[in-house]
Amino acid sequence: MKILIIGSGGREHALAWKAAQSPKVDKIYCAPGNAGIAEIAECVPIGAMEFDRLVGFAKEHAIDLTIVGMDDPLVGGIVDVFEAEGLRVFGPRKNAAILEGSKAFSKDLMKKYGIPTADYRTFSDPQDALAYLKTAKYPIVLKADGLALGKGVLICEDEAAADAGVKQIMQDKKFGSAGNKMVIEEFMTGREVSVLSFVDGKIVKTMASAQDHKRAKDGDQGLNTGGMGNFSPTPFYTKEIDEFCQKHIFQPTVDAMAKEGRPFKGVIFFGLMLTKDGPKVLEYNARFGDPEAQVVLPRMENDLIDVCEACIDGTLDQIDLKFRNDACVCVVLASDGYPVSYQKGYPIRGLENFKDKDGYYVFHAGTAFNENGEVVTNGGRVLGVTALGKDLKQARANAYKAVDWIDFDNKYYRHDIGKAIDEA
Ligand code: AMP
Ligand code: GLY
Repeated sequence: MKILIIGSGGREHALAWKAAQSPKVDKIYCAPGNAGIAEIAECVPIGAMEFDRLVGFAKEHAIDLTIVGMDDPLVGGIVDVFEAEGLRVFGPRKNAAILEGSKAFSKDLMKKYGIPTADYRTFSDPQDALAYLKTAKYPIVLKADGLALGKGVLICEDEAAADAGVKQIMQDKKFGSAGNKMVIEEFMTGREVSVLSFVDGKIVKTMASAQDHKRAKDGDQGLNTGGMGNFSPTPFYTKEIDEFCQKHIFQPTVDAMAKEGRPFKGVIFFGLMLTKDGPKVLEYNARFGDPEAQVVLPRMENDLIDVCEACIDGTLDQIDLKFRNDACVCVVLASDGYPVSYQKGYPIRGLENFKDKDGYYVFHAGTAFNENGEVVTNGGRVLGVTALGKDLKQARANAYKAVDWIDFDNKYYRHDIGKAIDEA
């Protein structure tokens, strides 16, 4: 089979790496890809939002299956465009990707179907939002309705901060048209966990739990980022919690989407908060997480292509999803200054240390080749150094050992990825 993967981050590197293990796969292309992906796939310089060019490429190269890694093209309807051309593609259609694309839609869906989530109100007029804030309880959470690179959520301690937030989102349009509408919701406390799942329109099968580290600095300080590291499984996601979520959150979400005439096929990433009143949904994503994919895929025993095809064909019930008992930890190596401003173009040394080392992976995120053919830094998040271990402690020690194998000017990372497990 010929596979096309759409995206250019660590998640897409992990997807390409996993797809390459399938005996069915002869050739992988990635658009646009990065320097690490180029080792296992042929990278093609087409952007993820250039749907017509991507369709043209898929037809010309007789691509058998396209896997979409990123949220923007999914929410923009890439799956509908591919399907209309008779091309096989893994991911939700536009009318289902809205589960991630509109927070107002997902909150209304949860409310309608009794899926546990924070109480909320939706606003399309900033004056109404400001009036509501006068009587609200604080802290409170403001969310731009649309996609905002994970940055459209503001936690406000008091009315003044919330007023300023409404102005930023709805009037100054800090997140563009994502702020045409907004959700204002109750502030919840608890531990956050992520659960990735495969969905075939009718049923859901969960992969593994993971825990993200969104803030830039040690001790969960600093600004929110796309994710500075991750571990899987998380010990806080117990069997009991899983039973509750399967019954009250996961399958009900899939049933609700089908009932609404929006059958979901692809990956749903459930962002959950374990509150004292039980697990509640923080958000849905319509794709693998980044770096959640980097810690979940190395633990997956199944052939990725088989599972993607089962989701497309509605035969996920015939797949026995299996995960290794090993734990996995990913530490993101970033450019110092991320997520605000940073230099790039620095040569990366030590990548060869990962060759032929079982259980150690270096997934590239922001990397490129310079004119001398060297691999250089090319983004805020540069690499995801990932390791397996017999338990989380071992995986964590292995990942941090491997962090030292890599060197580049400007290298920055958190030292406490997975430290929370010490409390478990
Ligand atoms: P989201 O993009 O909706 O997952 O929000 C980003 C981050 O904001 C989450 O990972 C949480 O840390 C935080 N957050 C979102 N909603 C709430 C809430 N209702 N209460 C407390 N924290 C929240
Ligand atoms: N790591 C969070 C996300 O992919 O949305």
